Amino acid sequence: MSATFYNIALVTHVVGITIMAGTTFIDFVTFRAFYSVFKTDRDKSLVLKNYLYKLQRFLGIGMLLILASGIMMMVKLHEVWGAQLWFRIKMVVLLLIVINGLGLRRMVGSKLKSFLANQAIAKEMDGTIRNFTIVQVIQMLLFLLIYVLSVFKFN
Ligand code: HEM
Repeated sequence: MSATFYNIALVTHVVGITIMAGTTFIDFVTFRAFYSVFKTDRDKSLVLKNYLYKLQRFLGIGMLLILASGIMMMVKLHEVWGAQLWFRIKMVVLLLIVINGLGLRRMVGSKLKSFLANQAIAKEMDGTIRNFTIVQVIQMLLFLLIYVLSVFKFN
């Protein structure tokens, strides 16, 4: 595999990161906007709700690009990166991103969905909104951690 091919994989990696981490951030901002509209005008909030659902597919597309390009780079340099501490920690953080993003977010998300379907705003909803925000903030912090690890490459 030539250096050009490796660099193409790295560019794809950055594109995937932009899509996935960018979507995570926009999801966070849009959810805030959605909830404030939801409290006053449910009909209007439907537009943002549908937009939030549509955003989710970009998380998958971004993750796919990150994984495919990451694996392509590792095919060439696995002996170099595989042995280094930053890379090993990065893989653990990646696992946490998957658990937090797919597992916890879906669990809290489906609870939230059932609250949103009800007419009255239940008291317990505030707790679920808080949990949802915590999951979103953790996800962004995990991304930040991967950026630091990948750029500084501590060994
Ligand atoms: C959410 C997941 C991931 C994020 C946010 C992420 C982020 C990054 C960032 C910011 C860089 C530095 C890019 C640069 O030097 O300009 C990088 C480099 C790298 N990533 Fe990832 N990465 C992720 C997943 C993966 C996976 C799954 C693999 C391998 C299977 C991987 C392999 C690599 C390698 C080998 C480099 C070093 C490239 C180089 O400096 O030549 N990454 N990653």
